[in-house]
Amino acid sequence: MERARAAALGAYAPYSRFSVGCAIESVDGEVAIGSNMENACYRLGVCAELAALTAAKQAFGLERIARIAVAGGSVGPDGTLAGAAVVTPCGGCRQSILEAAHVSGRDLEIVSANGEGSATEARRISELLPAGFGPANLADAG
Ligand code: THU
Repeated sequence: MERARAAALGAYAPYSRFSVGCAIESVDGEVAIGSNMENACYRLGVCAELAALTAAKQAFGLERIARIAVAGGSVGPDGTLAGAAVVTPCGGCRQSILEAAHVSGRDLEIVSANGEGSATEARRISELLPAGFGPANLADAG
């Protein structure tokens, strides 16, 4: 979670001013990080979780992912992350995490925190995205 909160400070979020960081830990304790990156064409923004999943793929592979930490809020004038609300992954990121869960063979744990780091919540991807669409659904594609 410390790594996720630090990653949020590296976000490029000039439009929403909402900085999100994500840290993904491997089964061996390696950590890959990502943060959200926005764009003047708003819909092209990339979430922290997807950025971190891409980094994790390069660093140790989706099959070695053990757990995921997410934190977000606003970066104050003193350069620290603030904010009261716990950040759980958006719907699209849940779908991407579900894909990684299929690859890893684990019901991945996602630990979410608020910006100020005073509150955390842990949930499995099966709880965040029940009845999700996955690779098995494509079996009928022929
Ligand atoms: N954001 C993330 O990076 N992850 C989430 O799970 C929720 C939202 C980003 C997207 C956008 O840059 C900003 O937070 C506000 O929505």
